[in-house]
Amino acid sequence: MMSIPDISGAQHKANPHPLYARLRSEAPVVRTVLGDGKPAWLVTRYSDVAVALKDPRLGKDPLRALSAEEQARQVPWMPGFLRPMSKNMLDQDPPDHTRLRALVHQVFTPRRVEELRGRVEAITERLVARARARGALDLLEELALPLPMAVICELLGIPEADWPRFRTWTNRLTGIVTKVDMVRAMPSLYMFVRYLRALMERRRRTGGEDLIAALVRAEEAGSRLSEDELIAMVMLLVVAGHETTVNLIASGTLALLDDPESLDRMRREPGLIKPAVEELLRFTSPVDLATERYTTEDVAFGEHVVPRGQRLIAVLGSANHDEQVFASPGRVTLDRDPNRHLAFGNGVHYCLGAPLARLEAQIAFPAIVRDLPELRLAVPRSSLTWKPSLPLRGLTRLPVRCAAAPVYSVPRAARPPEAGTQL
Ligand code: HEM
Repeated sequence: MMSIPDISGAQHKANPHPLYARLRSEAPVVRTVLGDGKPAWLVTRYSDVAVALKDPRLGKDPLRALSAEEQARQVPWMPGFLRPMSKNMLDQDPPDHTRLRALVHQVFTPRRVEELRGRVEAITERLVARARARGALDLLEELALPLPMAVICELLGIPEADWPRFRTWTNRLTGIVTKVDMVRAMPSLYMFVRYLRALMERRRRTGGEDLIAALVRAEEAGSRLSEDELIAMVMLLVVAGHETTVNLIASGTLALLDDPESLDRMRREPGLIKPAVEELLRFTSPVDLATERYTTEDVAFGEHVVPRGQRLIAVLGSANHDEQVFASPGRVTLDRDPNRHLAFGNGVHYCLGAPLARLEAQIAFPAIVRDLPELRLAVPRSSLTWKPSLPLRGLTRLPVRCAAAPVYSVPRAARPPEAGTQL
């Protein structure tokens, strides 16, 4: 049997594609043990991934898919205060999933998201101008992250003073791979849940126009949303709303720096931005692995059968680099057409925030290539590192330099003479 290295480790995330290519050709449906110490089946071919994500026999809720004995083996123990987390829509099957998604769907339609364009442009301009003035920045921490963070927190109505705390908490959450990580993350998760409960309480008293206030009203209106579901919803929106887009912007910028011709083309042909963002989504695949699903019966992928009651993971990063579907998948082709990538998933759990992520990226990339001239890495390429994570693929940091904006200077003749200076 083929030996598979830890696919949640930093080393794998640095360059996952050689392993994925080997899996697609030699073991496209394969059982392995993940970094959390538990078994899972990996599905790596585009055709199988696209079908798996739409297959109703693959359930999200392990409690429905597994027998009591299998649950005891597979489902991690969770302290009481964390139980709300599992009530998020991404972990639910219809009809609960359908009900929860319908509550927020309206806020994230392309038409509603388009109304945010001016605000996203203003936030981007401010961040880019600040970076340009200094001529050096960690593009991940100072641009790719604060943009989606500001947008989702403003939508939800989370006060700006609290955003840095959110970053620490969500970072802990997405970095959980092993049981030890889980234990280490407990204090952060506890504070995250406690903070959200307090925020809900405040909204209950004060009301408001933001999304949290609207969800609190839905909860109060009766059976549509329980308090646990409300907390889980906000947690999911905060985490999914920025931990992914940050990686698209940072890894996408790195992909352009690695390929100066594409970077130059991006500058010269701003009209290409829509297909270019789709290509960077495909190429970087910020959600490398779809979240886990469970087989509720035996499920066949060609001649490979995954037995009932198994954990299955569709590898989006592999599907998006499948040479059977994408010509030269390892190259960035900004005008690739067609480009039916699976970066946002497929089926009922298809990314709710896709229109928002697209809008943010379609504004951020042109600003980066236009307003940060002579953009280049500030550290050797080989020193860049990637975060350990099961679902995500993202850099730890991206230090870059650009030509600093000329600082306004008073003409020499107009300056008062400095002490000891001969004019
Ligand atoms: C580049 C940015 C993004 C990428 C690559 C991405 C990717 C994905 C993927 C692959 C899924 C499905 C996971 C699965 O089926 O296991 C998903 C679901 C989801 N995403 Fe995104 N996402 C991004 C941005 C956002 C944003 C900005 C939001 C903010 C609202 C968001 C909210 C969600 C939600 C709520 C779900 C769960 C949907 C459901 O269960 O019905 N995402 N995303």
